[in-house]
Amino acid sequence: MGRQSLPLSLYDRRPPSSAKLLWAGKNPGVSTSLSPISSPARAKWDLRGQLVRGERAGSLLIHGDAGKALDELLATTGEQSVAGAVKLCYIDPPYNTGERFAHYSDRTDRAEWLTALHDHLVTARQLLAPDGSLWLHLDDSEQHRARCVLDEVFGEDCFVATIVWQKRTTRENRKAFSSMHDYIHVYAPAGPKAWKKVRNGLPDEGAFSNPDDDPRGPWRSIPMSVQAGHATSSQFYSVVTPTGVHHAPPPGRCWAYTADRLAELDAQGRVYWPSGGNGKPRLKRFQSEVTGLAPFTIWPADEVGDTGSAKRSLLSEFPDRQAFDTPKPLGLLERIIEIATDPGDVVLDYYLGSGTTAVASQRLGRRWVGIEQSLRTIEEFALPRLGAAWDAFPGEGFAFAQI
Ligand SMILES: C[S@@+](CC[C@H](N)C(=O)[O-])C[C@H]1O[C@@H](n2cnc3c(N)ncnc32)[C@H](O)[C@@H]1O
Repeated sequence: MGRQSLPLSLYDRRPPSSAKLLWAGKNPGVSTSLSPISSPARAKWDLRGQLVRGERAGSLLIHGDAGKALDELLATTGEQSVAGAVKLCYIDPPYNTGERFAHYSDRTDRAEWLTALHDHLVTARQLLAPDGSLWLHLDDSEQHRARCVLDEVFGEDCFVATIVWQKRTTRENRKAFSSMHDYIHVYAPAGPKAWKKVRNGLPDEGAFSNPDDDPRGPWRSIPMSVQAGHATSSQFYSVVTPTGVHHAPPPGRCWAYTADRLAELDAQGRVYWPSGGNGKPRLKRFQSEVTGLAPFTIWPADEVGDTGSAKRSLLSEFPDRQAFDTPKPLGLLERIIEIATDPGDVVLDYYLGSGTTAVASQRLGRRWVGIEQSLRTIEEFALPRLGAAWDAFPGEGFAFAQI
């Protein structure tokens, strides 16, 4: 889909943040040292782990604390190294809602929560590829503070977007407002402009046809007028159609192209004149040239699923188990992975939970590294789900390691 590789030099441009969040116990030194840290001793575990599926491990499930496991990943060299190669890091940490779930506690002292977030992000950023991105999923409990931490670790101009995901569709009357959304903050070390060149757009599902047998293949037409906000005077003129009808731009709008450029496009057969040549000009967009649509920042439940559908799906897979409280829908992760990566790329999730990110990666032919602190969650959900995903979509294989 027209992806390009980015020069390595982009990776290290990180202007200082103009504002910083302070909290008790913040480690002042960590955020400034982004060059590779000195390797900690790696005697405690073997990153290759125990092979679970396949003949050689292209992916890795790690049982252990995110901080320790990230340090080990960063220090690992040679064939097993993923440092500087992670194309997508998606994380869905405990949100610090104050709740105690059956499989993990979501209640942490705020300063500790921020310290963990910050220190893990510093390491995760070093694992990212130059054209990679990090997606942090949160709710209103901490998301505004987390944005400040992300700005500090990545640099303010590495912010790409905040996605609002519709997590529920039913009303919750116990609170003052019925919260129906979460936030997913997206940062790219290369910055949004450069990252746009490597990310995948969404499939353009518009109807294409070829009523005039254009040798360039099927096309559809899109309006040639745009909002007048940033227009220059050369975009306001009267268009004359092939049949001699005059059209001014619609109110509040201007033509997308100057008169000269419109004439050029017309000469190339790229302009469609509707109503038998009397209508306003429209641009012919050929299916072969479409590189994908820019994703919206609001993702409705009917497109990617919600918490309810994710729980129901997990419950149908494991009807006899106590439900995992906070699984994310496979559709949500599949969309993220398809935007941010290509087949064969490495996806990292260091709060893996029931394994959704790794399952979606396996299904889409990506390599993955998942880290989860709860052995119970791994044994009850992540490992069986991943085994089934590999059986249905076999790839290189995956290993299970413990710190
Ligand atoms: C919100 S859940 C993730 C849910 C996951 N996205 C899914 O679809 O199932 C957060 C997970 O992070 C794990 N976790 C919390 N602190 C951790 C840490 N320091 N290291 C590794 N995992 C941790 C919890 O045990 C929990 O399973």
